[in-house]
Amino acid sequence: MRGDLERVLFDEPAIHRRLHDIAAQVSNDYRKRELTVIAVLHGSLMFVADLLRRIPLPMKLECLTVSSYRGKTQTSGDVIFKEIPLPEVAGRDVLIVDDILDSGHTLAAVRETLETAKPRSIRVCVLLSKKKQRAREVDADYVGFEIEDEFVVGYGLDFRERYRNLPYIGVLRRELLEQADR
Ligand code: IMP
Ligand code: MG
Repeated sequence: MRGDLERVLFDEPAIHRRLHDIAAQVSNDYRKRELTVIAVLHGSLMFVADLLRRIPLPMKLECLTVSSYRGKTQTSGDVIFKEIPLPEVAGRDVLIVDDILDSGHTLAAVRETLETAKPRSIRVCVLLSKKKQRAREVDADYVGFEIEDEFVVGYGLDFRERYRNLPYIGVLRRELLEQADR
């Protein structure tokens, strides 16, 4: 699988160092409160598991599965919620955790939908944020790394459901994307 990558962006130690910092920030911001973490699956699986183990606060963990991709690398803009009912968040301090902020469609839709359930607060935490013009503006409160507008895989992130198990994050070779876009 390493051969399918153009280059590695963040290796395991770099990811874990950054998680340590984000966990410290979150722990400090939410001290004396009980968090409700909403993990947006499947991309955030590794991230949320490693992050939460570093946050020594009382918390609940809920998962949401949404998708807007249809096997290609471009977002379709339609965000499909696969799991109904939504987690119970009324009056709670919610932290949405996702793998990557790209067009913004997914996180904007997740945030909007959760807001209708009247949480006390909502914040957004993403492992990666692409530096680009977004279709929908989303303010991420915690960002692991800012990256260029390239297609990345590993550490939960997939291309056609593959590469999620790589322990590092890298840029997928362009030919592989182009073959798939055809
Ligand atoms: P958005 O709705 O365009 O912001 O996209 C968010 C979702 O698209 C993420 O949760 C990922 O599942 C997927 N995605 C966006 N960019 C990438 C990428 O570079 N690699 C893998 N998945 C991506
Ligand atoms: Mg995802």
